[in-house]
Amino acid sequence: MGDQAEKLREIMQNRSTEHEKNSRIITISSGKGGVGKTNIAVNLAIAYAGLGKKVIVMDADLGLANVNVVLGVIPRYNLYHLIRRQKRMQEILLNTSYGIQIVAGASGFSKIANLSDGERKVFIDELCELSWADIIIIDTSAGVSDNVLSFIAAADDAVIVTTPEPTAITDAYGIVKIIATEIDNLDLGLKLVVNRVKSVTEGRRVAERVINIAGQFLNFKLDYLGFIYDDILVHKAVLKQKPFLVMDPKGKASICIDHIVRRLENIEYKEGSGMNKFLKRFFGSQ
Ligand SMILES: Nc1ncnc2c1ncn2[C@@H]1O[C@H](COP(=O)(O)OP(=O)(O)O)[C@@H](O)[C@H]1O
Ligand SMILES: [Mg+2]
Repeated sequence: MGDQAEKLREIMQNRSTEHEKNSRIITISSGKGGVGKTNIAVNLAIAYAGLGKKVIVMDADLGLANVNVVLGVIPRYNLYHLIRRQKRMQEILLNTSYGIQIVAGASGFSKIANLSDGERKVFIDELCELSWADIIIIDTSAGVSDNVLSFIAAADDAVIVTTPEPTAITDAYGIVKIIATEIDNLDLGLKLVVNRVKSVTEGRRVAERVINIAGQFLNFKLDYLGFIYDDILVHKAVLKQKPFLVMDPKGKASICIDHIVRRLENIEYKEGSGMNKFLKRFFGSQ
């Protein structure tokens, strides 16, 4: 890993010694683009907020920043202004009407992986300003740059998203392999989400494929975190620039997000009420 990535990781890992609170950092990454990272990051954040957590989504996909687009908010300032020292973190943090805050990405600012020493220091110092949050969800760019790797290395949980498409599966396997060989944070919870599935079985089959192939390279465990149904609701929500979880909390994709956040928090669904029973059936024995 590059020197920059190493430094970022060092500082982010030491964040608990500098601040009273230790935010849980969850990165959302993928090998291939367009597999649903941004939608998952945003809706997961809203689900977490529903559990009473203080949540920030940081758009670290600096080439194709679009967290704010999915939420229908227009930021005045973004990471670009932060790195250029024009604005402080508090000034670029944006409230949304969904109970979460976002740090907007610098769309088109692809040079972030090659920040100068000064710029890097600004970025890292300012990141520490977010430690009041319970959960920081980082939407990274697809693939593995030094930048993406350093976020993953600093995270508590790294979620890798794939779809059932063979190209997405191959690329998911590729990123898992790089993480396994480049990152030595053995506390990292590496987790797989299969998005856009047609059935529970399809999700499980895809997950098994990635986990089995990746198994030979792993020095830490890759867990199957869950699946998300292919749901026209997601598409409609993107067009409306409204999170799908808000548009239809009982929609197929929304229920899957709800299930994923509960798995992350180790909250079991209990058999009993109609909804819980439904969810049990819905998700089978997974
Ligand atoms: N579960 C899903 N069901 C249906 N369409 C989806 C689903 N997830 C993602 N999509 C579609 O894929 C597009 C890309 O999703 P996005 O979250 O922007 O991906 P990424 O951030 O990985 O590039 C969305 O605009 C939506 O149309
Ligand atoms: Mg995206």
